[in-house]
Amino acid sequence: MPSAPCKDNHRIDYFGKSAPYYDTILGLLTFRQYAQFQKRAMKVLAPQPGENILDLCSGTGRVASWIARAVGEEGEVLGMDASKSMVEFAKRRYGELKKVVFLHKDVTKPWDYQNYFDGIFASYAIHELPEKKRVEVFEYSFRALKEKGRMVIADFNPQVSGIGKPILLAFFKLFERDNLNVFSFDQNEMLKKVGFKGIETFPVLRGIFQITLAQKN
Ligand SMILES: C[S@@+](CC[C@H](N)C(=O)[O-])C[C@H]1O[C@@H](n2cnc3c(N)ncnc32)[C@H](O)[C@@H]1O
Repeated sequence: MPSAPCKDNHRIDYFGKSAPYYDTILGLLTFRQYAQFQKRAMKVLAPQPGENILDLCSGTGRVASWIARAVGEEGEVLGMDASKSMVEFAKRRYGELKKVVFLHKDVTKPWDYQNYFDGIFASYAIHELPEKKRVEVFEYSFRALKEKGRMVIADFNPQVSGIGKPILLAFFKLFERDNLNVFSFDQNEMLKKVGFKGIETFPVLRGIFQITLAQKN
């Protein structure tokens, strides 16, 4: 169900314009660590043949394509993204893959899914959402998961301590000024608030990034 996504969000426009180069640029800027981090998070998700997986804010669709291979012909992958250009790019690049669908959707607007997904994956997605909408997206995720479902979030860790804190803060002030409010967002508390259990976090690169695994039950 497409929904008029965030027309006033210039970051969405920026992602749209960067779609054809996004993965390459991030790969170059991070010495390929971007894809390594996504792959590590995908291992935590551990998609199994036959599973239904949602890739939240799926961007270029690259991770969705990896997940699609893991779930095989019996499984399904749905990528949702608010940038029309990202969705079109993902469809062009990975459209030949069976069982992967990309949907132009603002994930902060209510979803139709209930007890549907075995897993939800969100890499570099949650910090991009408007502050007040993050908890709602956790609620939609919780509802959309099957009883034994799990959610994996791979993102910056604003709670990082030590030297990582000023480094991350400086990065956000330079490149993510609109998202500085993540420093006051307690992700795991919010996950618990909506009902997620068994929350585990795996620090990456001295805790500047982290992978979070949360279970519905
Ligand atoms: C930093 S990129 C990450 C993309 C991908 N998950 C990855 O790991 O490469 C953030 C993505 O979130 C999308 N996005 C931001 N706000 C969104 C929203 N409200 N609904 C859906 N997608 C959104 C952007 O269009 C962009 O593709």
